[in-house]
Amino acid sequence: MTTPGRDWSAEAGYDPMRQFSELAGDVRDPYPMFAGIRADTPVLHVHLGPGSGGGSQLDRQAPRVTSVFTVTSHELAQQVLTDHERFSSAGYATTIGQVLGRSILVMDPPEHLRHRALVARAFRARALDQWSDAIIGATISELIDAFALEGHADLVPQLTFPFPVRVIARILGLPEADWPRFLQLSTELIAVMRNWDRAVAAGQELRGYFAEIIADRRRHSRDDLVSQLVEAEVDGHRLGDEEIYPFLLLLLPAGAETTYRSSSNLLFGLLCQPDVLDAVRADRDLVPQAIEEALRWETPLLTIARLATEEVELGGVCVPAGSFVAVALGAANRDPKRYAEPDTFDIFREPTPHISFGDGAHKCLGMHLARLEMRVLLTAVLDRLPGLRLDPAADDPHIHGLLFRSPPNLPVRFDPA
Ligand code: HEM
Repeated sequence: MTTPGRDWSAEAGYDPMRQFSELAGDVRDPYPMFAGIRADTPVLHVHLGPGSGGGSQLDRQAPRVTSVFTVTSHELAQQVLTDHERFSSAGYATTIGQVLGRSILVMDPPEHLRHRALVARAFRARALDQWSDAIIGATISELIDAFALEGHADLVPQLTFPFPVRVIARILGLPEADWPRFLQLSTELIAVMRNWDRAVAAGQELRGYFAEIIADRRRHSRDDLVSQLVEAEVDGHRLGDEEIYPFLLLLLPAGAETTYRSSSNLLFGLLCQPDVLDAVRADRDLVPQAIEEALRWETPLLTIARLATEEVELGGVCVPAGSFVAVALGAANRDPKRYAEPDTFDIFREPTPHISFGDGAHKCLGMHLARLEMRVLLTAVLDRLPGLRLDPAADDPHIHGLLFRSPPNLPVRFDPA
């Protein structure tokens, strides 16, 4: 896998971590704002005006949104996400769909159901065991090996940022020699909100690369996800290349960015409560509830979008046909009607499901994989980094972001192995 003229190992002037940090924005705590909106009205209507939204490269390409209805309660978030007739996912086709192509994310039932059935098998909880040690465990171990002897690290650039995209490269069965280019193009694709043109170019290049891989797997089936997709069959229908590309591209923003951010948030929550970190280290049965609480407390993806297909009354507010509806997952996860003391990271709270993976037909296809990745990561960190603590000299560790949320850095110290 070679591209003339580009040096994949050292891309001068392009720092993916900086891109991601900037993309998150420096909003430290949007939750008081959401609480204020929720207390005021169940559905906030904002007129943006005809000329608003300009400036970024994404805005130049995306259609003008003139009016947004934001849902902040858990009940209404569920209502929107499970009513596919009145709240369509088709709006993604004019935003992220321009980069990914027509993936399941933009489809509505029944088309969505047919396509999702073809790719769902590989992501069922039972199917994931095959990836647990050989792929996820091995990837995390290699990254920790690189700093375990040093006694200090920044866990975002050295662990949580690189691991999910490497896991995807391995799940897809990409040859190791191709990884530097794949990782670079993936990062460019994921940074779509920051640099539209670069993301479009990366998407096109990845399609070309996937074409070679798919052709190879059609000739020689292997034990990897691309082979499974090539062979998947439901009701006599098989996926063509044009259906496989968008799905493979979708895995990068959907599966890599979210998991890097959710893993960072989990570690941040625990590092800020050393007694809870010790409790989890001593009793690994607490790991799953720590993961669920981290996902609820700081969801990596704060808001998802729908389009109203007809005029609809939502929480007493009239939403006209064609309106953009923003479902604030992060706000729904902190709805005081559902969670006591919602702003507190409390791994011992009464278990109550969160909405970080969405709901309805589009509920995250990779949620079992994401949970598994977070579990393997936390277990490895606890096993291999004894005495783990936030670096006392750390400069203002925090979570930030209004669209995506996670800490830009996690400087830590530990007892060297
Ligand atoms: C903590 C990590 C993750 C979070 C918070 C998350 C969140 C979400 C959410 C909210 C949706 C619904 C989007 C919508 O309805 O508009 C979604 C869909 C999706 N996710 Fe995830 N995700 C995570 C990890 C993953 C992983 C690891 C993968 C796979 C490698 C993945 C693959 C997908 C796919 C393919 C969809 C589209 C499903 C559909 O449209 O039917 N996600 N995710």
